[in-house]
Amino acid sequence: MQPALKSWLPADPGAPAPGTDPAVLARHPALASFAARLGNTPVVALPRVAGEARIFAKCEWFNPTGSIKDRTAFALVCDLLSRTSCPERVLEYSGGNLAVSLSRLCADLGLANTLIMASFMSPAAIADMRSLGTDVRLVDKSLGFWAVMEAAYQTAERHPHWSFLHQHENRANLRIHETGTGAEFVKQLQRVDGQGVSDVDAFVASIGTGGTLVGAHTALRRVYPRVQMIAVTPAELPYGSAALPNGLPKYAGSGGLGNGRKQPFVADHETRIARKLTVRFQDSLAALSQVYAQCGLRVGSSAGANWLAARHVARRLGPDAVVATVFPSAATPSEWTAAMALNKRDIANAAVLDENGEETAP
Ligand SMILES: Cc1ncc(COP(=O)(O)O)c(C=O)c1O
Repeated sequence: MQPALKSWLPADPGAPAPGTDPAVLARHPALASFAARLGNTPVVALPRVAGEARIFAKCEWFNPTGSIKDRTAFALVCDLLSRTSCPERVLEYSGGNLAVSLSRLCADLGLANTLIMASFMSPAAIADMRSLGTDVRLVDKSLGFWAVMEAAYQTAERHPHWSFLHQHENRANLRIHETGTGAEFVKQLQRVDGQGVSDVDAFVASIGTGGTLVGAHTALRRVYPRVQMIAVTPAELPYGSAALPNGLPKYAGSGGLGNGRKQPFVADHETRIARKLTVRFQDSLAALSQVYAQCGLRVGSSAGANWLAARHVARRLGPDAVVATVFPSAATPSEWTAAMALNKRDIANAAVLDENGEETAP
């Protein structure tokens, strides 16, 4: 039996930021070297559209292995190494990017690791992880992400001495997005046009674990108390959906868990969510193509979804407002190929939906 998803306490504002314990960094030089390359990612101002809010996006593919999940991997491993100096084996599940980050970080640190993920990962990515020494275990992709999590719970039960990182419940994940992603974003927004933006009206982010959405929003609202939280998930399985988990293609890194389950970090802060939006996989690819045409950035499908949602919110808020969002990764080769194969009409018609899958007016 897998443990039910339970919730941790809300992030403790007094807790030290992950990765700041000098004793842990001194014991593990590879961790210090990863930390030196992590974060401080650039923020871009997206091209302005007359009558719409300004949009700023934080470009997370500048992290060491190319995604926002490097922050999560670093936080989870720092947390582990602050409690155990010599773990027998690290165990975790992943939608893809966290596995790439953990595989690299564990190889650098010489930590044995077992990573469980769905079978949609490209053979090249799996081969790379295996060449770094990772024990990669694949779960049939048609069963959906919940099956991947269940497989990890069962493995953790069979191997109680392994260190199960448990990204959905380990609050080091939430905390790094508050002290890292969100705190950096605030500083960067305070430098826009020399004097900084006067307010931030909305923060738009997709939910994987919800670490990015809730953690970064926590940092932003400390300085911009009116900032709305806008949550985005795939239309094929929105956040909190009562539908069964499914293996339908979805934009990267995100999604509901099915059967009415909710990501604990988000469930704990649900009253802060101003709007829940969803984006179909095909539309996230169309958006990726729009971002490339308008900004020259080859962003991934979740960045495409965030862009569509941010544009939608920017239209509603009007020209005096400011919207902040994240671009979690760059396009994978398969996302890029699929996006480039779309026709002009599909690209132009990409839409944002409400949480029931209905097209939502701007
Ligand atoms: C590629 C990728 N990784 C991670 C995330 C977010 O993950 P989390 O909610 O766990 O912070 C997203 C969400 O947009 C994503 O697209």
